[in-house]
Amino acid sequence: MLEIKDLYFSVDEQDAQSVIHTRTIVKGVSFTFKKGKFYAITGPNGSGKTTIAKLIMGINPITSGSVLLEGRDITSLGVTERARAGIAYSFQNPARFKGLTFRDMLSISAGTTDESELVKVLIRVGICSLDFLDKEVGHALSGGEIKKIELATTIARNPKVAIYDEPDTGIDLWTIGPMIELLKRERDENGATTIVVSHNEKFLQAAEEILLIRDGQIMHVGDLSSTTPLLQDLDFCNWKTICEGEAYARCHR
Ligand SMILES: Nc1ncnc2c1ncn2[C@@H]1O[C@H](COP(=O)(O)OP(=O)(O)OP(=O)(O)O)[C@@H](O)[C@H]1O
Ligand SMILES: [Mg+2]
Repeated sequence: MLEIKDLYFSVDEQDAQSVIHTRTIVKGVSFTFKKGKFYAITGPNGSGKTTIAKLIMGINPITSGSVLLEGRDITSLGVTERARAGIAYSFQNPARFKGLTFRDMLSISAGTTDESELVKVLIRVGICSLDFLDKEVGHALSGGEIKKIELATTIARNPKVAIYDEPDTGIDLWTIGPMIELLKRERDENGATTIVVSHNEKFLQAAEEILLIRDGQIMHVGDLSSTTPLLQDLDFCNWKTICEGEAYARCHR
């Protein structure tokens, strides 16, 4: 179980006149993610989804609030300690490393260099080619390939809580269905609390609960049928600067 309590994240920004303004990006987010459940976090671009994920992983410093994993307060722990405690985060835009191979990354995540163990992970995530292991995680990889590597290294950690930030970015349509099945299987077999940040309807459908984020706050928690009408409203709100009359009123009611 992962609890986030009254999370805030603020940054200082400088305007054109060099005046510093404090901008609050995450505004009092509280939620309990239960063990072995599949969640989706969705919402408009820039609403704070990735920031919330990074606050949970300890990549962004929490301005105030707390994070508890299985009842233990981990707020003061850094990224490495949170990873050791069982949280894994798969980046929206994974880093590329010249000179580092997929084998190196997978060995670190799986905690072994034994090839037969690494092959077991490849089979788990549905990567069929052994050649893939010796690919350099650099610029020669396609966007989809790098996302698959990121997913595999997250799964190899056997995390208690796995957060996947837009795992379908750059992934071909044929892979999305099997990817969802894979995440569900990991949840069922390893009891991993699975949190997917996504705009993709297939992920939203697969989720047992969807958290809709708007302007740094949880606007709604529910299933796809209760969330869809709100998403349609948000489409209007995204374009509020150019919409008028009734549509504008809907965004500001
Ligand atoms: N460290 C930071 N410093 C300044 N601004 C930040 C920082 N982190 C995030 N932001 C800003 O906070 C807002 C929310 O960003 P975030 O990446 O969480 O959005 P998102 O909901 O994940 O969007 P998307 O759907 O496009 O991925 C954005 O306007 C972003 O520029
Ligand atoms: Mg994001």
